[in-house]
Parts: sequence; C-alpha cells; structure tokens
Amino acid sequence: MIKIQPLPESRWEECRDLRLEGLKEEPLAFGSSYEEEEILTEQEWRKRNNNAICALDNNFPVGMVVVICESKLKAKHIANIFGLYVKKSHRGNGVGNRLMEGAIQKLKEAEWIKKIRLTVNTEQTAAIGLYKKFGFKEVGVLKNELFYDGKYYDELIMELLLEDAETPA
Ligand SMILES: CC(C)(COP(=O)(O)OP(=O)(O)OC[C@H]1O[C@@H](n2cnc3c(N)ncnc32)[C@H](O)[C@@H]1OP(=O)(O)O)[C@@H](O)C(=O)NCCC(=O)NCCS
Repeated sequence: MIKIQPLPESRWEECRDLRLEGLKEEPLAFGSSYEEEEILTEQEWRKRNNNAICALDNNFPVGMVVVICESKLKAKHIANIFGLYVKKSHRGNGVGNRLMEGAIQKLKEAEWIKKIRLTVNTEQTAAIGLYKKFGFKEVGVLKNELFYDGKYYDELIMELLLEDAETPA
C-alpha cells in the first residue's frame, strides 16, 4: 500500500538517495545534475527532506516531490514544485498522481498561497500530462534552457491558479 507523507528529518538519507537516483536515471527531467547534488551537505539534504513529500511503499520511499514557497513580500503567494520523481518500478500506478494531489492539498491548506508554478522539459511528456490533469496551464517556453549531452532542450513554464484548481476524477 502506498502512503503519501513527509519523511521525518531523521530519514533525510532516504530522501537524498531517491533524489540522486532520479538525477542519475532521468537527467533530462531536472535542471540540476547528479554531480552537483551528490556533494550537498547533510544540512542541505535535511532542509530538502523537510520540503519534500514522499510516496512510501511498505515504508520505503518510491517517489517524491518538493514544494518551496517564495519568501519575498511581493511573491509570498507563490509556491514552486520541483523534483517530482517516481521510481520506474512504480510508474503507471497512480503514484505521481497521488504525490501531486498531496502537494496541492498541502498548498491549499496554506490559504495565502494563490499560485503554484513549475518548469518542465518539453520532452517529459508523462510529467506534462500529469500537470495538465491537475489544471496547470502552459504560460511560456524557455528556449534552449537546458544543455545536456550535446543537445539543447526547451522548458515549459506551467502554473496553476488555486482558485481555478480542480481535483481530477
Ligand atoms: C512523471 C511521473 C512522476 C509520473 O509518475 P507515475 O506514477 O507514473 O504517474 P501516474 O501513474 O500517477 O499517472 C498520472 C498521470 O500522468 C500522466 N502520465 C503518466 N505516464 C504517462 C505516459 N507514459 N505518457 C503520458 N502521460 C502519462 C497521465 O496524465 C496520467 O494520468 P492517467 O493515468 O489518468 O492517464 C514519472 O513518469 C516520472 O518520475 N518521470 C520522470 C521524472 C520527471 O519527468 N519528473 C518531472 C520533473 S518536472
């Protein structure tokens, strides 16, 4: 049975391992690279873990998403979603859906949050499908935003205005 919940800070290493696996397995999905994050400190990983929501299969993390709210006075109503990842072994079973549901629910409870935004490589069609299902709209394209393995990739900017949010069937 899959449970969606934050991991206690003491389990930060499990969050780190899943994130590093994601960076290795899906280099096109994320703006950061494995080499940049494998050297992060324990303190940085603890912080990351505290901003993450995980999908646990028998208490073992198989998926994650990170939610970070803006801190500037004029942008405090905005939250960002990063690092959505589900292990290949667990894809196609609704785990990504439940992670996004969990993240959006958490943000709706913070009633000052009015907008959620994210960017996604235009080649990550599964992720784009998932975001659209939750009502995220494409609001722009960052051309040649990522350079990986000799090739440039565009990133879509997507946002969800919470007043418009719908729960997918
Ligand atoms: C995107 C990702 C998290 C989806 O996880 P998942 O657990 O397989 O997703 P779910 O089974 O919950 O599917 C939810 C929705 O995603 C979309 N989706 C999932 N797999 C898809 C695919 N292969 N093609 C198109 N859409 C797909 C669909 O809209 C689906 O809804 P539906 O089942 O009603 O059609 C997973 O594929 C992944 O980790 N990809 C690599 C990392 C990545 O791209 N992250 C995004 C960073 S911005």
